[in-house]
Amino acid sequence: MSQPEKSVKQTPGKKRLVILISGTGSNLNAIIDGTADGRINAGIVAVISNRPDAAGLERATKAGIKTLGLDHKSFASREAFDEELQARIEEFRPDFVILAGFMRILTAPFVRHFQGRMLNIHPSLLPLYTGLNTHARALEAGDTRHGATVHFVTEDLDGGPAIAQALIPVLPGDTPEKLAGRLLIQEHILYPQVLHWLCDGKVTLEDSRVLLNGEALPECGVRINAV
Ligand code: GRF
Repeated sequence: MSQPEKSVKQTPGKKRLVILISGTGSNLNAIIDGTADGRINAGIVAVISNRPDAAGLERATKAGIKTLGLDHKSFASREAFDEELQARIEEFRPDFVILAGFMRILTAPFVRHFQGRMLNIHPSLLPLYTGLNTHARALEAGDTRHGATVHFVTEDLDGGPAIAQALIPVLPGDTPEKLAGRLLIQEHILYPQVLHWLCDGKVTLEDSRVLLNGEALPECGVRINAV
C-alpha cells in the first residue's frame, strides 16, 4: 500500500510554497503560522533542507508538511547539488520558492530557473552588509539602526530587488546576539507580511522593479516600521 500524502491539501487559489532552510527555522515557523491562520493565501507543499538534521524539519513534520533532507556534502560539486535540488523542488510544482535561513550560495542556472518566483530574507538593511556576520558588522560600523530585508533572488548575492524592510534601533550595550534576537522578532512579522502580498498577487516584479499594488517601490522596498 502506498504511503499517504503528507503535504497540505491545496484549495483552489492558494499558492504552493516550497521553503528551503538550513537551521533553526524560526522564519519557517512564522510562515507555517501565517499559512495556518489564513494570513498567507498559500500552502507549504514541502520544506527542504541541505542539512538533514536541521531543527526546522521537525516542526514542519509536526505540522504535517512534507520534508526532505538533501545533504549537500554528498554531492561532488555545487552544480550537481543545485541540479538535484532544482529537480526535487520542481516535483512539488511550486508557485514560489522561499529561502528562510538557507545558508548556501546558489549557482547561476538555479537562480535563473526560479528568478521572479524566489524570495530570500537577509538580516541587514540591504544594500548594506551582504553576506555573513551582518549584526557584528552593523555594530562595528556604529550604526544607530539595523534591520532585515526581503528581496527577490537574483544572481547578484543578496542584491536582488528589495520588497520590504523591517528596522530596529541599535541600543546601548547591544551585542551581535542581542541584535540578532531582537531582529528575528521583526523578521517573523516581515516575511509573512510580504508573503501575504505576494500570494495575493499584490507584489510583482517587472523589469527588475518591484511593484506593490501596481506602484513602483523605492530601492529599499516598503519599510514596515519606522525607527
Ligand atoms: C535569519 O536571520 C535570516 O534573516 C537569515 O538566516 C536566519 C535564519 O534564521 N537568512 P531561522 O532559521 O529562520 O531561525
